[in-house]
Amino acid sequence: MLVSNDIKITPTEKSRINEINWDTLVFGKEFTDHMLVMNYANGTWNAPEIVPFGNLALHPATSALHYGQALFEGLKAYRQVNGDVTVFRPDMNAVRFKESCERMCMPVIDEELFIQTILKFVETEKNWVSDREGYALYLRPFMFATDPYVGIRPSETYTFVIFACPVGQYYSEPVRVKIEEHYTRAAAGGVGRAKVAGNYGAAMYPAKLGQNEGFHQLLWTDGVSHEYIEESGTMNVMFVKNGTIITPTEESDTILRGITKRSVIEVAQHWGLKVEERKVSVKEVIEGIKDGSVTEMFGAGTAATIAPIVKLGYRDEVLELPPVETREFSNKVSQYITDIKLGKAEDIFGWNFKAS
Ligand code: PLP
Ligand code: COI
Repeated sequence: MLVSNDIKITPTEKSRINEINWDTLVFGKEFTDHMLVMNYANGTWNAPEIVPFGNLALHPATSALHYGQALFEGLKAYRQVNGDVTVFRPDMNAVRFKESCERMCMPVIDEELFIQTILKFVETEKNWVSDREGYALYLRPFMFATDPYVGIRPSETYTFVIFACPVGQYYSEPVRVKIEEHYTRAAAGGVGRAKVAGNYGAAMYPAKLGQNEGFHQLLWTDGVSHEYIEESGTMNVMFVKNGTIITPTEESDTILRGITKRSVIEVAQHWGLKVEERKVSVKEVIEGIKDGSVTEMFGAGTAATIAPIVKLGYRDEVLELPPVETREFSNKVSQYITDIKLGKAEDIFGWNFKAS
């Protein structure tokens, strides 16, 4: 097994960090100095290398571009109050990445190797992890099929890359979502549970229709009856109803198994609150908002963090949720998880992995 000290590093000649305007940072538009690259061929992964950030050269027949064997992960590194740099739950991303690979007929990366590449890469880029409030280093590991081949079969070669973006908030304001009853994000037996590039491409057209109506995102429903809520385009969705935390069950293979959502659930259970992971119908949510029993609705995601949802579009109606400042649970859990990430609260769950 490779140990992270064996990862070869070719440093960039000149860091671009002083060119960053932290006040006007746009999510996903700035990139750090390096990237980690690891190639798969002849049935094995070659040694990963950290190299200066730059373009990749691709053959026009690169099979990922044609047949969609492409998947990714998203996680964040934080600057703790004592100056340490830590990564939030990379072990969970390692598991999900492996499951996505299996579903897409792509070669898995051993979980320990995945974690080591992340931590070594973050150590290399540690100067990019800001201590500004609300900032983090967003990490984007991804893998794609590289066979130059026209024909449908799993590729025999792949490239795995990690790059990073210094980021602030993904949503700069409380979120407005619309219940989607016509288009479908994921069908049972499909790839909704995997973090596959095509899931996002397929969602863009319906999401654009929602954005034209003033919503940030859609709230996807099941592909059969459209009666049950699944998740949003960039985050899982959670509700507080009569004091119980409710979220759509991920037992089906249509919902991404979100790490932020899982963290919220684990904290809620630790606090002794009642959590229900079950089918959540559109009807229940609409009625609950109308009769006041649904007091909180929020998204949970790595980029989105805990994103309060303030408006819910449903057919011709736009329902208003209670004001954000009244939301006891989501405000408290958001603060607590942030405090753990920053080392302000004790990491009793063992979620922070030290990179430097
Ligand atoms: N659902 C979708 C479709 C997402 O893209 C994301 C973001 O990664 C999530 C849910 C939330 O997952 P996580 O909390 O692991 O980032
Ligand atoms: C993430 O939260 O990591 C995602 O992949 C969502 C994307 C909108 C950035």
